[in-house]
Amino acid sequence: MSDIPDLLKNPPQLPLVLPSILASDFAAMGDDVADVMAAGADAIHVDIMDGHFVPNVTMGPATVAALRERFPDLYLDVHLMMTNPELYADPFAEAGANCITFHIEPTAGRTEHDEHTVIRHIRDTGCDVGISINPPTPAQAIEHVLEDVDLVLVMSVNPGFGGQSFIPEVLEKTRWIAERLPDDIRLEMDGGLDPTTAPAAREAGVDTIVAGSAVFKAPDRAAAIKQLRGQT
Ligand code: DX5
Ligand code: ZN
Repeated sequence: MSDIPDLLKNPPQLPLVLPSILASDFAAMGDDVADVMAAGADAIHVDIMDGHFVPNVTMGPATVAALRERFPDLYLDVHLMMTNPELYADPFAEAGANCITFHIEPTAGRTEHDEHTVIRHIRDTGCDVGISINPPTPAQAIEHVLEDVDLVLVMSVNPGFGGQSFIPEVLEKTRWIAERLPDDIRLEMDGGLDPTTAPAAREAGVDTIVAGSAVFKAPDRAAAIKQLRGQT
């Protein structure tokens, strides 16, 4: 029986810190995950890219299944940067995802598989549901679904690659969302977050921090995680 935490609704602490395995050593991913969890991370963020919605291809359900096999109690936060997230909700849920986040840009108002349908589809798998917006997308684009999800992910880089620079212009819309988001819904940010950019994100209301390079490339991963939390 697994003992996966109800991370989003009952966080052990805030902010949560979720290293993105996009920045891990893909040739030793499991060992890298074990290391960052031992260093104090709360869960793992899995960046899935389809080469269509974003100009990169990263990993698929088999990676999630392998992590689930090795880490039965690990919360896996799967971020679908995909044009057709509805095609992959079931495979990722079956592989062991705990949260599945999709983007409003390719789904908003579609005749079939619109954002409401995808939210229901992901919920029906038993996973937590997240909605994400890219830097150019206004916060108002997700206002109508804020209370239907468990997590809102504000991208602070244009998605596709790790190691990019933080885009501070997203902070204003982050504050706008934070003012409207119920307390039990997590506000996550992903892209270019490190000990120098994380304080502004936290002040804007972010309580769930995704960091790839800032954790996996850090000489002291435990210290980096503490700094991202705002613990010196
Ligand atoms: C989108 C990816 C990256 C990644 C974080 O490109 O989602 O944002 O997770 O990468 P870092 O933390 O290295 O910017
Ligand atoms: Zn991500």
